[in-house]
Amino acid sequence: MELNFNFVVTMENSVKLLSCFSPDEIEPLLSRERHVVVIIDSKVKQLYGSYFPYTQIEIDASEKNKSLENLAVIAGKLMDAGTDRDSFILAVGGGITTDIAGFAASVYFRGVRFGFVPTTLLAQVDASIGGKNGVNSNGYKNILGTITQPQFTLLCPAFLQTLPMEEFLGGVSEMLKAFVIADTDSFFKSSTLLSGISKRKLQKEDIQTIAPYAQKAASIKAAIVERDMYEKGERKHLNLGHTFAHALEKHTGMPHGQAVAIGICMAARLSAKLSLLSDNEANKIEEAFTGIGLETHSSVPARLLAKAMVMDKKKSGDNISFVLIERIGKCVTRPVNIYTLEELIYDLS
Ligand SMILES: NC(=O)c1ccc[n+]([C@@H]2O[C@H](COP(=O)([O-])OP(=O)(O)OC[C@H]3O[C@@H](n4cnc5c(N)ncnc54)[C@H](O)[C@@H]3O)[C@@H](O)[C@H]2O)c1
Repeated sequence: MELNFNFVVTMENSVKLLSCFSPDEIEPLLSRERHVVVIIDSKVKQLYGSYFPYTQIEIDASEKNKSLENLAVIAGKLMDAGTDRDSFILAVGGGITTDIAGFAASVYFRGVRFGFVPTTLLAQVDASIGGKNGVNSNGYKNILGTITQPQFTLLCPAFLQTLPMEEFLGGVSEMLKAFVIADTDSFFKSSTLLSGISKRKLQKEDIQTIAPYAQKAASIKAAIVERDMYEKGERKHLNLGHTFAHALEKHTGMPHGQAVAIGICMAARLSAKLSLLSDNEANKIEEAFTGIGLETHSSVPARLLAKAMVMDKKKSGDNISFVLIERIGKCVTRPVNIYTLEELIYDLS
């Protein structure tokens, strides 16, 4: 039988970032939608729910709730709300909310259009960009999911004012990560502006100061994703510091952002040890994080870290794929043999 390939496949594969100064600007963006359903973090609903005058499905943002069981609950509520193929799902909240709502939207009726309004710095610079969404299962994080791009990710810095400092610092680590990967100038400028911030309460002015840098970091991630959506190459750089960070989180239960800060500094020290990065630049990375008030050294013995890293999902065969730094603004990926890992990292903590 002769097959007929006379059809065209179009893919909606672009990453669309929008920004606004005030949450008042969100409603007009959705004015053309016939039916909007909002999946919103319950804390965010209390603070900003009135900006979203649509049917709202509340979720309690916790890693425990980022589960298939909760996905089924959300699907039930979407049905109750009359959500159909032509509806639009808007996710409003941090990375937990955008991850689970993005997954729900990408599988409900085999895919409904959706958009993101991230309300944490971490979600604005990282989690809500790139289309990776999903849930945890069997003790593994983000093990079930899809890569489906939202129609838009809307960055509104006004939401960040109410963030607890710990959550803000988590976003700062991911923002600086983007700059270590691709923007030398923003790395130094933003870390200088943020110096000492962890010791005080967030002010409106801090958010205004940091907003352009958050947008730059978001654009860096968006551009990388556009070039390598399915993580065959360059997108791997976004894992900078995360192999160490996941191992640290596992052993200490420390917040993700703090673990990422230590992870990036360990990656810098490893890069210097392997003569990829100068000692001077490795020290500058550490000074930037220390200046902000983030830890840069781990208290976990290398033996335990190495063991946890071998379990990490970036292992392929006998090698772990590490993102290393050539200079602030340029990273590379290198395989590191798991049998030499402990020896290699014993003095990096
Ligand atoms: N999909 C991706 O590419 C990607 C990338 C990085 C991280 N993630 C995921 O993101 C999640 C972490 O995201 P997160 O750090 O945003 O966590 P989160 O969603 O848990 O939010 C952190 C806390 O801040 C609260 N919050 C949210 N917005 C607020 C606001 N404006 N004011 C006050 N409080 C607010 C939340 O209720 C929560 O308690 C993890 O599950 C991680 O796996 C996904």
